Amino acid sequence: MKFFIDTANLAQIKEANELGILDGVTTNPSLMAKEGIKGEEAVMNHYKTICELVDGDISAEVVSTEFNAMVEEGKKLAAIHPNIVVKVPMIKDGIKAIKWFSDNGIRTNCTLVFSAGQAILAAKAGATYLSPFIGRIDDSNWDGIELISQISHIYSVQGYKTEILAASIRNALHIVRCAEAGADVCTCPLDSILGLLKHPLTDIGLAKFLEDAKKFA
Ligand code: E4P
Repeated sequence: MKFFIDTANLAQIKEANELGILDGVTTNPSLMAKEGIKGEEAVMNHYKTICELVDGDISAEVVSTEFNAMVEEGKKLAAIHPNIVVKVPMIKDGIKAIKWFSDNGIRTNCTLVFSAGQAILAAKAGATYLSPFIGRIDDSNWDGIELISQISHIYSVQGYKTEILAASIRNALHIVRCAEAGADVCTCPLDSILGLLKHPLTDIGLAKFLEDAKKFA
C-alpha cells in the first residue's frame, strides 16, 4: 500500500517526506484554504512547490462543477507538473470530465466517494484513483472500512485498473485496516502516520536497553 500525506501544509509534507516512506500528497480546497492560500496564481505556485518537494503523485482538486469548466481547470492544473493528478468530484459532470481526462492522457482522482455504485462509475470512466472517505462514513454511523473491502472485491472481480485511495483517515488504526481491506493507497494526516510508530512496549523496551547499555559503556 502506498502512503500519501493528506495536507497542503509544507512543513508537514517535508516532515513526512523525510521519513522516506512518502509516495504522494493529496490536497482539497479546505486544506488549501487552511494554509491561507488565496488567488489562482498562489494556488498554482503552492502546487508547484509541493511537486518540487515530493517525488510522487500530487492531487490538485478542481473547484468547477460544470464539464467544460472542469476540463479547462484540469488542463491548467495538469500543466503545472507531470506528477499532478486532477481531483474531480463524484458528480455527473465529474464523471464526464474523468472520461475526457482519461481519453486525453490526464490522470484523475475521483473524490467524495461514499458508495460502491459510485466506485463502479468512476472505474468505468477511467479514473486513475478513487477516494472513498472512510472517516466521514464512520461519522455518519456506517462502516468506512467495509466500503473499502467491498470496492476492493468488485475491482478485483471486474479487473478494473482504478486504484483505491482510502481518504478521510482519522487515526493509525484506520491505516492498518485499510491495508487489510485491500486499499492501494492510504492518504493520511501526519499524526495518523506517526501514530503507527507508537507502542508502549517499544518505549519500555528501549528505555531498558538504553539503561543496560550504560553498564557496558
Ligand atoms: C483527501 O483526498 C480528502 O479530501 C480528505 O482525506 C478528506 O478528509 P476529511 O474528511 O478529514 O476532511
